[in-house]
This record gives sequence, structure tokens and C-alpha cells, in this order.
Amino acid sequence: KFKRIGVVGAGNMGSMMTLAFAELGLDVSVWDVQKHNVDQVLGYAKQAKTSKGKVDGFYDIDKFVKSLDQAERKLFMFSITHGDPADSVLSMIKHDLKRGDIILDGGNENYRRTERRQRELKPLGVSWIGMGVSGGYQSARRGPSLSPGGDRNAIEDVLPFLEMYAAKDRRTGLPCVTYIGPGGAGHFVKMIHNGIEGGMLSTVCEAWALLNQGLGLQYEEIGDIFEQWNSHGELKETYLVQIGSEICRTKKTPQGDYKGEGKSEANGYVLDDVLDKVVQDDDGTEGTPFWTIMDTAARHVAAPTLAAGHYLRVASGNREERIKVAQKLGVPKPRPLSSVKDKGKFVETLRRAVYCTFLASFCQGLEVISNASDAEGWNIDMGKCIQIWRAGCIIQEEYIADLLQPVLSNSKTTIRNIKQIDGVAAELHRNYDSLKQIVMLATEGDHYIPAMSATLEYLKYCGGTMLPTKFMEAEMDFFGAHAYDKPGVPGEDPGKVAKGAHHYEWRPAQ
Ligand code: 6PG
Repeated sequence: KFKRIGVVGAGNMGSMMTLAFAELGLDVSVWDVQKHNVDQVLGYAKQAKTSKGKVDGFYDIDKFVKSLDQAERKLFMFSITHGDPADSVLSMIKHDLKRGDIILDGGNENYRRTERRQRELKPLGVSWIGMGVSGGYQSARRGPSLSPGGDRNAIEDVLPFLEMYAAKDRRTGLPCVTYIGPGGAGHFVKMIHNGIEGGMLSTVCEAWALLNQGLGLQYEEIGDIFEQWNSHGELKETYLVQIGSEICRTKKTPQGDYKGEGKSEANGYVLDDVLDKVVQDDDGTEGTPFWTIMDTAARHVAAPTLAAGHYLRVASGNREERIKVAQKLGVPKPRPLSSVKDKGKFVETLRRAVYCTFLASFCQGLEVISNASDAEGWNIDMGKCIQIWRAGCIIQEEYIADLLQPVLSNSKTTIRNIKQIDGVAAELHRNYDSLKQIVMLATEGDHYIPAMSATLEYLKYCGGTMLPTKFMEAEMDFFGAHAYDKPGVPGEDPGKVAKGAHHYEWRPAQ
């Protein structure tokens, strides 16, 4: 249906999309506010041998939009920074938009802003589709995981093209794209993908540090372990573990410096050049991990693994402050795990703890999706969410996908609590002791395990029948007449979320 597409933004992602679209046979018009980005993508396109479509670069946005006008309907792919930049480009092209035009917003945008733009464009008959694009610039070139949400008819019109572009499930060949739901559902699902990604990233780096500083293993040895983990069992085909093994083995080459900012010494590992600082853009006040944590709290879904991963990142980002605090706190540094006599056994226990924490991350993310889907009326098929996360994206985890997809796809009702799925509960139960052992050993050696320790507590309290919150409730009733429910009273015990029925005057007024 569409012969030409207009790509807005020729940064890492937009330039790779441009090449991929041309390879799929579309003519591409590409515009960027930075002239050199346009020149760069035109340079890449010249070298691309497999292109079937033409690539035309534009420095002038009006000429860019005009180039799309020959077709009955214009199709855009936005690949620019969320928030103000997206609003500003929209305002520049809005007067040229016509009924039937479609804008795919592939940025990591806040789903509420997506919904605002959908409302703004609806009277014009223009569809703004909030579409998660996952997998980084390399997947953008070869085929990412896509989560489009918004007007269903418009999405169905572009779906054949998106299916060609998307990554394919290695086993079934199915494309990793589907209509997610109306409104901001697509960007919401991508936001949660990134929240899960945060929990998993924290877990992998915790495991890496335990192997390196706890067991004293060399990078190459850790690379071998990650490769084994990734080759079979519960961590097979797990993207973050797989790239972890490559990172551990990557040695510096004189050509290797990304963006050519000086040549590194051609000796040693690239990892040795990487500081322990993961900065969030916009001072952390924007961005998908942050929005995920805000949303889990707003929807009353416990997601401590995702939050712990995010807070580790937040604290890591301000290295200057951290170094000053370190001098005052004098927290002990991680020590070799001298009590570990059988390294092989420890590595296996750690593998299970990592898997258990990954699975908990999925539970937490999916519970937010299911909750939001109900509350917003999105009717998201969670089995399809797992399907689109099978290839192309950052949270690919084959074993977990195999565990979850059949149940979520076949369920007639929305599953609000993923831990109630028998198979999931059995897996969490089976690996609980491994997680506990790792948390104990790591704590003893003063290692960093925010995501794993948060997951241990999460499993304890989400599956606990007599929590210490009995005392919290009493204190709150004491100072705030919070009111409590009583044991054994029908309707109250077990009871669902409801305000307590009883108040006691613990300290009668004098
Ligand atoms: C993906 C990633 C990607 C990632 C950003 C980092 O699915 O490809 O999730 O979108 O989130 O590269 O973004 P933040 O710095 O905002 O976390």
C-alpha cells in the first residue's frame, strides 16, 4: 500500500531504519534537524548494496513533507527524542497532514503524551501510532521487536509492512509485531519492556561482579560461563546474557573506538575502560525505567526488582556524589567469597538465582500490563506481548517465553497475578533456595545484589501468610484511625483490597 515512507530523525535508530526500509523496497525520504546526520545516512545508503528502494535526504522539512505528497496517504516514522522534540516536529508538519496520513512514533515516548497527540490529530483524521521499537540500532537495521498501539485500522494498514520489517521468531518464523491495543497501549508495553530490561540488566551486572570480584574469575572465564548459560537450560537464548559473554571477551583494537573519539590503547579489554556510571538522560526526570516505576506505584503493583535495578542505576549515575559519600560511610568493599569451596556449584546456584530474578522481573512487568490493560480498557493480549519479545528485543528469554506464552495465550480471563500460574509458581519455588543462598553469600561478602535481594524479599512477602504488616496496621490505626480487618471474619479474612472495618482507641483520649 505504501511506496514511500518519511523518516524523521537520522540518529542511530533512524538511520538504520532508513537503510532497512530501503532494503525492504520502500523509497525513503529522510530528514533530520542536524544536516550531518542526513549526510551520514545518505553516505551509508550509497554504500548499501542490497537496497531496493531509493533514499532521498532533506535538510528542509517542508520539502521533506512534500516528497511524500505524491501518495494518497503519507506514512511517517518518527525516530526522535520523546517529549518536546517530537511535539515541535509535529507542529512543523501538522499543516501539511491530511486525512488518512499515519505517523508511527518509534521513540520511547510516555504513553500519556502519545494519547494527547492522538486526541490532537483525531479531528484531522490523522493516526498517531505510538510504537515501541526495541533492540537498539542493530535490530533497527536487521529487524526489531515492534509494539504499535493506537487506531486499529491504521495499524492494520501498515501491519504487512511492519511484519516484513520486524524480527522473526527463530523457531516459528512469526514476526515480532502485533496490534497491541488502542490509545497509548503500544508505548505502554514498550515502557514496561524497558522496566523489565532494568531488572534484568541489574541482575546480569550483579552476577558478573560476583563472578569477577567474588570468585576472582577472569573476564574470559566469565565469558565462557555466560556462553554456557546462554546455550541451554533456563537462560538459553537470553539476549543480555549472550551479549554479556561477548562483552567479557572483547579486546580493544585501534579501530574499535566508537565515534572515533581517540584511539584506545590496543591492549586489554574494552570493559576495563568502562566506568561504573549509568546516567539517565534528562536528570532522570524522564525515561521509560523511571515512568515504569512511577506507574507500578500508581497502579498498586509491587515491582521491587524493577525498582531496585532502576535505583542502582540512579545511584551509579552520580559518581561524583557517590565518591564523597563513600569516604564518609566507609561501607566495606566486596570481598572474595572465601567460604565458597566448590566454584562450579556456586556458578550453578548463581545461574538459578539469575533465572529466578529474571522470572520475577517478567512477573512484575506483566502484572502492571494486565492491571493497566483492564483499567484503561486496552484489552491487551499478554500472550502476544510474549510473542513480540521472542526476538529482536532486549528482554528475549526463550525459556521464560516458553513458560508464559501458552498460558497467557490460552487464558480466557485476564491473569492479574502471574505468580498464580502453576508453572510460574513451581519455577519460583524450585529456585527460591538458590536465590536465598546467593543473597546470603553475597551479603556476607558485602557484594552488590539489589535486584536479587529485592526479589528474595518479593517472593517472601508476595507469598507470605503472616506478614509483619500486622504491626504496621496496628501502628497506623493507633495514630491515624486507619482501621483494620480481623482474623477469621468472613469478608475480611482473607478478603481483597478494602479499607479495614475496625478501629480501636489504643490510647483513649484523656
Ligand atoms: C530497547 C531499549 C532501548 C533503551 C534505550 C536506553 O528496547 O532497545 O530498551 O530503547 O531503553 O537505549 O534508554 P534509557 O536510557 O532511557 O533507559
